[in-house]
Amino acid sequence: MVHGEANLGGRLGESRIARIRRGLLFIGGVFSAPWAVIMHAFSGITPTRRMTCELKSGGKTHRAPVALFRDKLPQRLAKRFLYSTSLGGRVFRAIKPLIIRQTVVMLAVTYRCTCRCEHCGVKGARDHARGEMDTGEMLNLIDQLARSRAKVGTLYLFGGEPLVRRDLLTLIHRAKEHGLKVVIDTNGALLDEAMADRLAAAGVERVRVSIDSAIPEHHDANRRLPGLYAKAIAGACLMRDRGVRTELSTFCTPEKIESGEVADVKRVARENRLNGVRILSTICSGGFVDSQPLAGDCERKLYSLLEPGFAYYEMPNIDHPKYRFQCYSALRGYFFISPYGDVQPCCFMPVTFGNLRDEPLDDIVDRMWRHQLFDCGSSSCLMNRAETHAWIASLPTEGDPRQGPIDNRMQA
Ligand SMILES: C[S@@+](CC[C@H](N)C(=O)[O-])C[C@H]1O[C@@H](n2cnc3c(N)ncnc32)[C@H](O)[C@@H]1O
Ligand code: SF4
Ligand code: SF4
Repeated sequence: MVHGEANLGGRLGESRIARIRRGLLFIGGVFSAPWAVIMHAFSGITPTRRMTCELKSGGKTHRAPVALFRDKLPQRLAKRFLYSTSLGGRVFRAIKPLIIRQTVVMLAVTYRCTCRCEHCGVKGARDHARGEMDTGEMLNLIDQLARSRAKVGTLYLFGGEPLVRRDLLTLIHRAKEHGLKVVIDTNGALLDEAMADRLAAAGVERVRVSIDSAIPEHHDANRRLPGLYAKAIAGACLMRDRGVRTELSTFCTPEKIESGEVADVKRVARENRLNGVRILSTICSGGFVDSQPLAGDCERKLYSLLEPGFAYYEMPNIDHPKYRFQCYSALRGYFFISPYGDVQPCCFMPVTFGNLRDEPLDDIVDRMWRHQLFDCGSSSCLMNRAETHAWIASLPTEGDPRQGPIDNRMQA
């Protein structure tokens, strides 16, 4: 009884500020309508009556207030242009140097790993004769990244399995001191409560936990680590509970698309209230070097699994069936550094353009990005092109990586 009165009183006794806010929201909604029409034309979001709009994706219809999308419209239009037209790709490359801190760097902090996955794209990259960079070298590298001409904004810590590295938190703290965003890719084997607490407290922005199949036995068999599926899901939930954006990461083959396994991984993410799913195409490297890249019908099916803000292909920006695939490496939007200090176009490309133990980072990156490899378009994965493999095969395999034309094949 008392509660009922209190509710009614609350509504009638709405403060002046709340009423003004409601009025402004209403006016905002009215002015949103033309925006919604434009939005429909460019981004596939359909405006409906009552100032809501429908977003159809993955066979489902989501409804949200137009006002929610209104502020994001300029971004959506820009994205639609940059990611779905080839002119957009060229414009992206031209304006990128002007955009502050856009480059993503993937740093393999180690090639050691708790698993031995069939498909592992960095299989064979570990070289026992070479020492991995120690804490001092890694910190120096992070300092260089922070002031690099490449305008690095995000650091992906990667491997191997990054959580096996004991000084990982020290590296994360240094990156955060420099204002870099930190993302971690992990198989989840070591993601227990203590680790989750430390990662969350360190300010990690995003964690991606790999799940190859929603069938636990399939996942564990592929990773050759019994019980990993349960640990990985539990670890992802620990990060979610600590408010860190947590996604599942899954690679897809034609068989996995046909059997619905990729869609099932999305279901698992939803059931566990995780923030999304990254879908990786089959990348022809390491254990998958002889596989066929996804194409035609298979790729179309993969695209139908994308959902804005939830399921994306390769990089977070490619999250809508209308956005074209873009290889971030080819766009000069991303590069990779191995635990030995080799600077490479991509973690899956066994080619180094120089080593941080010998030269400053910027000199190597400048040289790398001048190479013709980066002029051959970004609409498909560099590692899924026959020309790239032919070029890699033509590179000398012996000697100092800094000798020879510009690059050299890494010692396996
Ligand atoms: C190389 S792993 C490194 C991080 C960690 N060890 C893990 O497995 O999550 C990063 C992601 O790349 C995926 N991956 C590895 N090799 C791949 C390949 N050849 N094709 C597609 N995805 C691959 C893994 O499944 C994982 O989700
Ligand atoms: S995919 Fe990740 S977990 Fe699997 S072997 Fe490669 S680095 Fe290790
Ligand atoms: S070459 Fe490009 S698309 Fe392929 S894995 Fe590397 S960054 Fe991704």
